[in-house]
Amino acid sequence: MTLPFAPKTPVYGGDYNPEQWDAGTVDEDIRLMREAGVNLVSLGIFSWARMEPEEGRYELDWLAELIDKLYANGIMVDLATGTASPPAWMAEKHPETLPVTAEGIRFGFGSRQQYCPSSPLYRRKAAELAGELAQRFGAHPGVVLWHIGNEYGCHIHECFCEECAAQFRIWLLEKHGSVDGINKVWGTDFWSQRYGTIDQITPPRAMPTFSNPGQMLDWRRFCNHQILGCLLGEREQIRKYSDRPVTTNFMGAFRWLDYREWARYMDVITDDSYPEPSDPASACEVAWQADLMRGLAGGKPWFLMEQTTSEVQWRTRNASKRPGQYALWSLERLAHGADGVLQFQWRQSIRGSETFHAGMVPHAGKKSATWHEVVELGSTLQKLGPVVGAPQEANVAIVLDWESEWATMSAVGPQDWSHFRLAREWHRTLWEQGITTDIVGTDADLSRYTVVIVPGVLIDYREFAQRASRAVERGTQLLVVTPTGLVTPELEALQGGYLGSLQALLGVSVTDLYGLTAGVYEHDPMGVPRVHTEESDARDNLVNRLSRAVEVPGAAHSMPLAIDRDELERARDRLMAVDSPKVSLRPGLRGQLWGERVAMVQPDVEVFATFAASGGAIDVAGLPALTRRAVGAGAAWYLATDADGFTRAVIWQLLAAYARVHPAFAGLPDGVEAQERGDFLFLLNHSDRVAELAGIMGKDLVSGGEATGHLVLPPRSGAVIDRR
Ligand code: GAL
Ligand code: ZN
Repeated sequence: MTLPFAPKTPVYGGDYNPEQWDAGTVDEDIRLMREAGVNLVSLGIFSWARMEPEEGRYELDWLAELIDKLYANGIMVDLATGTASPPAWMAEKHPETLPVTAEGIRFGFGSRQQYCPSSPLYRRKAAELAGELAQRFGAHPGVVLWHIGNEYGCHIHECFCEECAAQFRIWLLEKHGSVDGINKVWGTDFWSQRYGTIDQITPPRAMPTFSNPGQMLDWRRFCNHQILGCLLGEREQIRKYSDRPVTTNFMGAFRWLDYREWARYMDVITDDSYPEPSDPASACEVAWQADLMRGLAGGKPWFLMEQTTSEVQWRTRNASKRPGQYALWSLERLAHGADGVLQFQWRQSIRGSETFHAGMVPHAGKKSATWHEVVELGSTLQKLGPVVGAPQEANVAIVLDWESEWATMSAVGPQDWSHFRLAREWHRTLWEQGITTDIVGTDADLSRYTVVIVPGVLIDYREFAQRASRAVERGTQLLVVTPTGLVTPELEALQGGYLGSLQALLGVSVTDLYGLTAGVYEHDPMGVPRVHTEESDARDNLVNRLSRAVEVPGAAHSMPLAIDRDELERARDRLMAVDSPKVSLRPGLRGQLWGERVAMVQPDVEVFATFAASGGAIDVAGLPALTRRAVGAGAAWYLATDADGFTRAVIWQLLAAYARVHPAFAGLPDGVEAQERGDFLFLLNHSDRVAELAGIMGKDLVSGGEATGHLVLPPRSGAVIDRR
């Protein structure tokens, strides 16, 4: 399967914002695009002010000329509807379109994305513009894709204006039926929050302390719904006049918008990804976002809509990419299922807010090292035609659920937590161990996977539990990690033991939450910055006669877990089918931040690890921390703490041993990632050292050379071995 516009080589190009340049520069741009092997540009993302300079007067001839020129030069267009940045006349004539903060401040004009997603005027004008564009260009052979809006929600993911309040009320009544229905679900009988009429309900504006959690969760859902409504309004107009596929650019695991829902309206999934180059785990961020996009695309190809060739300008410190890293991370996206990479932006601005954001054509032009890398990657991609459309198969899945992330954010306690963080950390564990992972929703067919990880899915879903049970029966190893199954989809706490619908399968239930260790927190649970150091504690304790005698396990930094090492080692040895590198158990296992009192509800539960009699969980010492229950051909595991990275790796190896899952390629030097995509083996050297690889046979599409067992990869470089 290929992208709907079936390119023969991966797509390559960038955001093209030609309104910044004179005609001469545009001609030079097209020459340079050809030189760099560009075959797709995103046009018009910030062009509303040029497309409709006055309300109702459209000027599209300049765009027509440009699209023709690009097309004549073999460059396809991803045509943006330009609606991410409404023009000045809108703010002037219709100030009610400007978004309002929780504190009641209406934003001004002069930046971008300054629109209220509920504004009827904004919505109508945006849809009309999309319609104009679709009528004019919807059948142009050069326009292969529609780019609706841009990074929805990036700056404004909520608006607290009167219009949003009115729409929120309508949405609430539709969902809950009546004011009483809302009162019940939100639990407004507590704190005297009961509403008498619908008009009394407002968005969760600035408040003295915690907002009602039910209100917050519904607000998250409503905001997602409103912003999606903007996209759908434009999409409808486009569909009237054009049959070209539509997309909007996602931003990885962006927590404010439920991309799983959004993906249903996309013909092509595209993503923007800006990992921090000065973080050694950035290549993991690349993989995580890419794996998520592959999942959202449901196996169909996706592509990268934005990355930077080098530095961005919006961090406090903007590290540049190291030599080779731009191409390496681009190849990494392809390794994880992308059919191309586009960058923000083609020519680096010389004025405005993004002047110091790298581009494909930097300020120094062809003299720059960046330009050299841009051209080099272009020529590499032209050699990777065979990879286009190749499928990627994973045996392991991690469940990611936006509703649970929202529920976790909305609930006040029990912990300052993020389901997405947990999911990402487990993904990292697998990535570091060379395992390809799918990121799936709670509605996924789990029996396709030999291992499924459920990292803190707060909401208890009955159907998910049923699907999980069937998968386990058929052989899946399912690992459920706390905090999972604490609330219903309407945020009502489960009674009679947590884990709800999963209890029967896991064979355990959670009777008490325990722990709250200081762990990685920089502030204590009350939000007070932690200024104590061990040294200051010790000095103060010379004089603190009363408090120095009080033990506070909850302030410990970790929760050691007790395991029978020999038994665990033997289990692993017995089960490991091949000798993939084994993690030593010497450093011991550890939980952090959170622990629980776990009770057995089935007799046949094995305990792999218990909380130890020291550290943060001493009060639950001896109780299970990691359990396993064999069911049918598989097993259901439960982890009652937030494991640190080392512990996750050990647990993974146990799961892998039972599931007989191996890395795509074992025995690689440190820093080298291997990913299989169809018949192609991607080998990516993320390290600063030359990597020598043994046992590699086949043609390397990148260098054109033939590997006959031995392959040398320079620092920060990649190879794509054709194994057909
Ligand atoms: C994205 C945005 C682009 C550009 C880029 C810079 O958020 O879509 O227009 O601003 O960031 O990194
Ligand atoms: Zn609003």
